[in-house]
Amino acid sequence: MATQEGKDPGIVTTVRLNQNRPLPLRLLQFCLIFLVLGLGISIVSVNMIRFFGVHTVGPAARSNIIFPCFEESDSIEKWIRPPSNLMHKMNDIELFWRASFVPRINQYPIKRVPKIAFMFLTKGPLPLAPLWERFFKGHEGLYSIYVHSLPSYVADLTQFSVFYKRQIPSQVAEWGMMSMCDAERRLLANALLDISNEWFILLSESCIPLHNFGIIYRYISKSRYSFMGVFDDPGLYGRGRYNWNMQPEVTLEQWRKGSQWFEVDRKLAVSVIEDSTYYPKFKDFCQPGCYVDEHYFPTMLSIQFPHLLANRSVTWTDWSRGGAHPATFGNSDITDEFFKRMFEGQSCLYNNQPDNVCFLFARKFAPSALEPLLDLSPKVLGF
Ligand SMILES: *[C@@H]1O[C@H](CO)[C@@H](O)[C@H](O)[C@H]1NC(C)=O
Repeated sequence: MATQEGKDPGIVTTVRLNQNRPLPLRLLQFCLIFLVLGLGISIVSVNMIRFFGVHTVGPAARSNIIFPCFEESDSIEKWIRPPSNLMHKMNDIELFWRASFVPRINQYPIKRVPKIAFMFLTKGPLPLAPLWERFFKGHEGLYSIYVHSLPSYVADLTQFSVFYKRQIPSQVAEWGMMSMCDAERRLLANALLDISNEWFILLSESCIPLHNFGIIYRYISKSRYSFMGVFDDPGLYGRGRYNWNMQPEVTLEQWRKGSQWFEVDRKLAVSVIEDSTYYPKFKDFCQPGCYVDEHYFPTMLSIQFPHLLANRSVTWTDWSRGGAHPATFGNSDITDEFFKRMFEGQSCLYNNQPDNVCFLFARKFAPSALEPLLDLSPKVLGF
């Protein structure tokens, strides 16, 4: 004590003031002060990191999420986490550019479970949602859902629905117009933002699944080809819609027709959203009575990736009644017999082998079909 007194008069005063207390208690007091100081400093710095962390990450700040774990922002997590808020503020140009990012190393440095993106192109509500809810139940982690509806439509869903907050920023889409292809590209681009999505299926509000999730997942994931309906129709509604101004990008021989309802893998999805070669040709020279949603994707994918296409759709549609629109099925159509006929008639090539499972989805089903579908689905559809 005596030597300290000589060196530092400051300490001397405090020590003198506390002179009447025993030494162990004074030590405890010092420790407590340091503890409180240390705690204070660490709380301040945690908040500083959070504050700056959110600002440097930018788009994440928009999703109103504060990272629960701040080490994420500089780890690989940041690059593999799917967007937490689908209602981003990007316009189409920004979105497509962002979605076109492609890793150049095929080996993922993480355990990636490939998912199927179910993309619903709708006007408003999904009347068959209860059937889909049942279909998806128990398969979390193997699928993601995206819904493009009229921009004016506000979904009224509870957080328990698989469709809850799965709406993407949408614009008006008209049948047979380029705005329809734009909506489909918008769905693809949004789904591409989740790197775990490997296959992309376009569906409408009148579609139903024809098999359980496991069968559909296996069928899609084991296929060597993407299911895009493609054919060369020599008639008035096929080649008859070709416009010679599309040369040289698209020749008459390359002109194709196909169903709007497709399944593509990630590689083809990127090629669709990055296309600037064929897009302007179709936009300018395929206008009604050329229905662009029946020609743009089939033609441009056939030109670039013929060897990756199955040239058939996996969505069953009944055109047998004739006319411009396929048959719509309602309450009284939905029977055992109806599905028996549908399943019996199937034959196609799957991975170059004959198969009798050709369709995974079917359309069109009216809202009134829901009740009988829910009754029959465990027995007939397998879920
Ligand atoms: C689909 O058609 C293209 C020609 O457009 C052909 O090259 C390709 O082999 C076909 N795919 C299958 C699976 O047969």
